[in-house]
Amino acid sequence: MKRILITWTSSWIGKAIAQYFLNTWNMVVWISRTNVLQNDLYKHYTCDLSEIEKRNDVFQKIVDSKVVFDVVICNAGVWAFWKFDSLSQKKNEEMMQVNLLSHIQLLHNIIWQIEEQWSLIFIWSVAWKKFMENWAIYQASKFGIRWFAWWLSKELSQSVHLLNPKIVDTLFHKDIKKYLHHGETKITDILTCIDNITTKKEIRFEIDL
Ligand SMILES: NC(=O)c1ccc[n+]([C@@H]2O[C@H](COP(=O)([O-])OP(=O)(O)OC[C@H]3O[C@@H](n4cnc5c(N)ncnc54)[C@H](OP(=O)(O)O)[C@@H]3O)[C@@H](O)[C@H]2O)c1
Repeated sequence: MKRILITWTSSWIGKAIAQYFLNTWNMVVWISRTNVLQNDLYKHYTCDLSEIEKRNDVFQKIVDSKVVFDVVICNAGVWAFWKFDSLSQKKNEEMMQVNLLSHIQLLHNIIWQIEEQWSLIFIWSVAWKKFMENWAIYQASKFGIRWFAWWLSKELSQSVHLLNPKIVDTLFHKDIKKYLHHGETKITDILTCIDNITTKKEIRFEIDL
């Protein structure tokens, strides 16, 4: 029995991962604001990850379901690439909540529901290792995840991975094609890498695609 939990699935990377695993896995569970996939093998939780109280309720439902997961993929991440002084406090909080705090809270709730030989995968990026103009809060949130993941990999016996695509052609970058100079990663490369992690062919903590 193979069960996977993914945050964010209504579009692009998250959706591609969910569709892919629906073909081969026994149960796919996901958390997102909208539901776009129909399949008997899936369970969808509607949730805006930026809303703390509602998110608590949804995470509790996952705990109550007592489902034990083999793989958890933390894919959620919103961005606003503007100068720090032009970002609203609301936008700053949304980025910190969705990109960092929602993952910490989710894992704190479900850590007991994950198989001993589980894999925890964070979708991170090669671009975030560089100091980028106008990315202050975005990089603060993503670097929080990086070190959170690193410490989990030390504290837990299970496997924890940072999966780093370059630019993936999604709506994420629709207004900022200038970042495409980082080079491109195909969705299929991400799927192959996740497959290799789940079959233990890939054991590195940090994987640059
Ligand atoms: N695209 C790239 O070039 C690239 C490169 C490296 C890493 N990444 C990382 O890959 C991950 C996925 O990126 P993507 O390109 O697939 O993003 P995307 O195309 O912008 O997808 C956005 C997704 O986020 C969901 N979402 C937005 N706000 C939400 C919220 N408050 N609560 C719950 N769901 C929310 C949206 O669904 P709804 O609107 O239905 O909620 C949608 O499914 C992110 O962590 C990103 O940082 C992306």
